[in-house]
Amino acid sequence: MLQVYRLAKRYGEVWAIRDVSLRLEAGSTLVLLGQNGAGKTTALRCLSGLLLPTSGRVLVGGKDSRLEPDAVREQIGLVPEVPGLYDRMPARSYLDFFGRVYGLDPGTRARRIERLLELFDLAEAGDRWLGSFSKGMRQKVALIRATLHRPPLVLADEPTSALDPDSAHVAWRYLEELRAEGAALVVCTHNMAEAQQLAGEIGIMSAGRLLAVGELPELVRAAGLKKHREVVERPTLEEVYLAIVGNGVEHEARPA
Ligand SMILES: Nc1ncnc2c1ncn2[C@@H]1O[C@H](COP(=O)(O)OP(=O)(O)OP(=O)(O)O)[C@@H](O)[C@H]1O
Ligand SMILES: [Mg+2]
Repeated sequence: MLQVYRLAKRYGEVWAIRDVSLRLEAGSTLVLLGQNGAGKTTALRCLSGLLLPTSGRVLVGGKDSRLEPDAVREQIGLVPEVPGLYDRMPARSYLDFFGRVYGLDPGTRARRIERLLELFDLAEAGDRWLGSFSKGMRQKVALIRATLHRPPLVLADEPTSALDPDSAHVAWRYLEELRAEGAALVVCTHNMAEAQQLAGEIGIMSAGRLLAVGELPELVRAAGLKKHREVVERPTLEEVYLAIVGNGVEHEARPA
């Protein structure tokens, strides 16, 4: 579904991302972890077609984002880091507007919008202007907007960063539902517990590079090769992450 070859983006002197290659099949998940400034948002923006990479290629469903940008964009739902919404529209009308842009028929639009407003506890607030919404409410609307057309590739940049624990749980369950229906998901997060719960691959970024990618056991091996002095029997994702990004935190051996 998604193939990325040696993607790089430079801002002036800074390489926000460099030499990022990965592939992701339909119905699978990649969780991107990495320090502030590691390049996660830049990577997602390049994948979404919102940002033109300095070099490298992105193929979505076999289509090259440089050669067929519209065909690629149609297949993607992006949940941005900062949701930019039309503040002067009520949530329902706003979502209906996007549903129309996506080409959904009125019945499907209404059904999906009501179900998702209900799911995210926004049904009552749905006729209020988006400008009056709280940060978390805005993030929920951005998630609904990005996925209303059930795109085959969902890119979500810290989609639960502003959500309360209950709502975050609902959001992860919803993303998991999209994956189970066949979507490929790329999700950035700083939440290790959530990252570990999502089945799939984990990519660890640092200073613009994708240092390691794989399921937890592969990451454990990658971490072991690089940093571990002692054998850690069952390291948590957080321990593996810290070992790979190499911030100097030492690991204690734990009982198996
Ligand atoms: N528009 C821009 N202009 C100049 N530099 C930028 C721009 N956007 C990002 N950068 C730089 O690119 C690097 C990667 O930033 P990015 O936002 O992708 O990081 P991130 O991994 O998403 O971080 P965070 O966890 O804080 O969201 C940083 O050094 C950042 O300063
Ligand atoms: Mg970011």
